[in-house]
Amino acid sequence: MAEKRILLIVGGGIAAYKALELTRLLRKAGVGVRPILTQAGAQFVTPLSLSALAEDKVYGDLFSLTDEAEMGHIELSRSADLVVVAPATADLMAKAANGLANDLASTTLLATDKPVLMAPAMNVRMWEHPATRRNLETLKRDGVLFVGPDEGAMACGEYGPGRMAEPAAIFEAVMAALGSGARPLAGKRAIVTAGPTAEPIDPVRLITNRSSGKQGYAIAAALAALGAEVTLVSGPTALPAPAGVKRVDVETAREMLAACESALPADIAVCVAAVADWRPESQGDRKIKKGDGGPPPIALVENPDILATLSKAATRPRLVVGFAAETNDVEAHARAKLAKKGCDWIVANDVSVEGTMGGDENAVAIVTRAGIERWERMAKGEVARRLAQRIAEELQ
Ligand code: CTP
Repeated sequence: MAEKRILLIVGGGIAAYKALELTRLLRKAGVGVRPILTQAGAQFVTPLSLSALAEDKVYGDLFSLTDEAEMGHIELSRSADLVVVAPATADLMAKAANGLANDLASTTLLATDKPVLMAPAMNVRMWEHPATRRNLETLKRDGVLFVGPDEGAMACGEYGPGRMAEPAAIFEAVMAALGSGARPLAGKRAIVTAGPTAEPIDPVRLITNRSSGKQGYAIAAALAALGAEVTLVSGPTALPAPAGVKRVDVETAREMLAACESALPADIAVCVAAVADWRPESQGDRKIKKGDGGPPPIALVENPDILATLSKAATRPRLVVGFAAETNDVEAHARAKLAKKGCDWIVANDVSVEGTMGGDENAVAIVTRAGIERWERMAKGEVARRLAQRIAEELQ
């Protein structure tokens, strides 16, 4: 990514502060960031902070003679591989959808010949207004890519969709868009399972686990970035669906298996979900009361193994990849799992490494019948991109 460069348009919204973190993440990954700060954006973040993090000059004024002498606005609009608008305010979206060009940001959006990725951020009523709906449809038809918005509590005190996607999610969408030149997985179908499963004990209680879903979502995004048609079968997580991925939400292991089976045939299956090994044998339709009998016994039965089932399906995907969380004897355990489940690769995850469980980094080794490849510790997004690349090479 060292030679890649983005033009980052920071619009005027409270979410502008997240553009600073996005800039930091991109610079850390070696992506060049050239910022344009709108007048309204400058009410929320200062040119100095943006410039310091981007390690570049901040552009703001369409009619600045100095800017024009150094680089004209047309050249500026084409000087990057991708134009990112974060936050994309209702105003910026409306201008871009209608071809208005009365400041540097809107002129750049009209003049550019590069792909554009927008991260919308606005009040829920503004997001749901028919005008914004129309603008969104127009922009999508024009080929603009979108990440978010998320649903949640807003700075204005309301709740709903309109909150800008988190910097990490925008970062992933940028990396996917930048990598989208090469599409070695075009025409291939992939199933990815992610997140925990939740097994009901009664209508209000569950057995679940702490899986965040981050690694699985990153893999789904990375496969889609290489051109695969991805179905992400996800247990309950707090994550937004990655751009360009079909997400199917499930709760239990049995629902997850059914969703995977109905996504067949596929070329690739990557099982990253932390599936509950057992579920309560019976789930009453009434809440269990405390009563006098002491704690109720909860009889458990084994859940179906999704990875093993897909590995021996009549329409088996050509490449089936499982994950294994290990704390010791990583290679031996991964080999045993490869044999037991009948998959092609096991991505062994050394969870004894501090900060990997639930965190943003992972230390993995790829175990195949041919041998083992150890990867250094890296961000989950990077693990995902390298794995997607390896999968693409395998299916050549
Ligand atoms: N898996 C699955 N369905 C299950 C259980 C696990 O698809 N019912 C998949 C996971 O998505 C992962 C792999 O199998 O790809 C992990 O296997 P598992 O035997 O559950 O591994 P561990 O939890 O590491 O097992 P153990 O407790 O035996 O170490």
